[in-house]
Amino acid sequence: MDQKNFVVSYQTFKSLNELSASDQELCLQAEEALKSSYSPYSNFKVGAALKLSNEEVVTGSNQENVAYPSGLCAERVALFTVGAAYPEATVQAMAITAKSSNFVIQKPVTSCGACLQVMAEFEQKQKQEIEVLFYCMGGEIIKVKGIKNLLPFVFVEERLER
Ligand code: THU
Repeated sequence: MDQKNFVVSYQTFKSLNELSASDQELCLQAEEALKSSYSPYSNFKVGAALKLSNEEVVTGSNQENVAYPSGLCAERVALFTVGAAYPEATVQAMAITAKSSNFVIQKPVTSCGACLQVMAEFEQKQKQEIEVLFYCMGGEIIKVKGIKNLLPFVFVEERLER
C-alpha cells in the first residue's frame, strides 16, 4: 500500500480592497451578473464573470427549470457562452459570487464538480491555467490558479479525443 497526498494551493483575501484593481472589477462584474439569475426553485443566485485574453468580459448566471436537472450553473452558462461566441479566446480569469434570499452567505461559494470539470477542459484546450476568484460579498475571497488545485482527480482520457 502506498499513501499519497495532493497539495493544493490557494490564496485568501479579507476583502475586495486587498485584490488588484482588475480582480476587484471582475468580482463586481460577477455580483452584477447574478442579478440575471433565474432561480425560483433554490432562491440561490450565482453570478460568474470571465475575463478573456481579448479583454472582453463574458458573464453568466444560474438558470433553473421546473425539471430541475435541466437547469445550469452560472459558471457553465458563462463558459459555454465563451465556447460558442469566442471559440478562439483564452479565459484568463473568472470570478464567482452567490446570494441567497433565504440565508446569509458567510464564506465564498466554491464551484460544483461539474463546473470544475468544464473549467479543466477549457484549460486543457487553451493550454493556459485559469485564475478563479470565489468572492463572498462583503467578506473573504479565495483565489486559486489552476483547476488542478480544485479538482486534483479530474477526469481525463486522451483516447476519447478525435
Ligand atoms: N449553482 C451554480 O450556479 N454554481 C455552482 O457551482 C453550484 C450551484 C446553482 C445551481 C442552482 O441553480 C443553485 O445554484 C442551487 O444549487
